[in-house]
Amino acid sequence: MQTTNHKALEIEKVASSQLHKLQEISRQTFHETFASQNSEEDMAKYLDEGLSLHKLHMELDSLSSAFYFAYIEDQIAGYLKVNWGDSQTENHDKDAFEIERIYILKSFQGSGIGQSLFDFSLKLAKDRGANYVWLGVWEFNHKARSFYTKNGFTEFGKHIFNLGQDRQTDVLMKLQLK
Ligand SMILES: CC(C)(COP(=O)(O)OP(=O)(O)OC[C@H]1O[C@@H](n2cnc3c(N)ncnc32)[C@H](O)[C@@H]1OP(=O)(O)O)[C@@H](O)C(=O)NCCC(=O)NCCS
Repeated sequence: MQTTNHKALEIEKVASSQLHKLQEISRQTFHETFASQNSEEDMAKYLDEGLSLHKLHMELDSLSSAFYFAYIEDQIAGYLKVNWGDSQTENHDKDAFEIERIYILKSFQGSGIGQSLFDFSLKLAKDRGANYVWLGVWEFNHKARSFYTKNGFTEFGKHIFNLGQDRQTDVLMKLQLK
């Protein structure tokens, strides 16, 4: 178990046996973040396909990805998904490290948990000897974009993310470590 400087916060690797809990928080946080700006059909399609038990199970079993839960007093408050090597969603640079998802439940946002998960992911990247950390963030997700900018990330490109039938533009951002 990993602890952070946040008093009541614990960050722990998600075990295969926690698949259903992972799906629950993945779906809830995705819905809370994006439902107001996207159609119900596109949301339903992504929640069913992008966050299916089958897909999450494969991702949990991958040797080049990891999920972590952030717990506040035994309650799951958010989660992190990171990828390296072949599991990176787009860039297979072996010296790179991807933060694919940092999601905090709405009721827990604004109290430093996102920052702690982010700091933790940087430590994981450094432990792996990564040259840089990168991520994709929806162009209209202003909150997350400013969060990453504040943490030193700069934009270096764009890619397309399919949310249901909607082709959306993600801004690619990176932070050089070496
Ligand atoms: C973005 C997110 C991860 C931030 O986590 P959080 O726990 O709410 O943020 P924190 O409380 O740790 O805040 C971290 C820092 O970012 C700053 N911050 C938070 N929201 C911000 C915003 N809208 N604009 C600018 N800075 C912001 C905080 O002021 C804080 O800085 P400080 O330590 O100097 O005060 C969280 O809001 C979230 O889960 N959003 C929905 C999911 C999402 O969009 N994820 C990213 C896409 S993959």
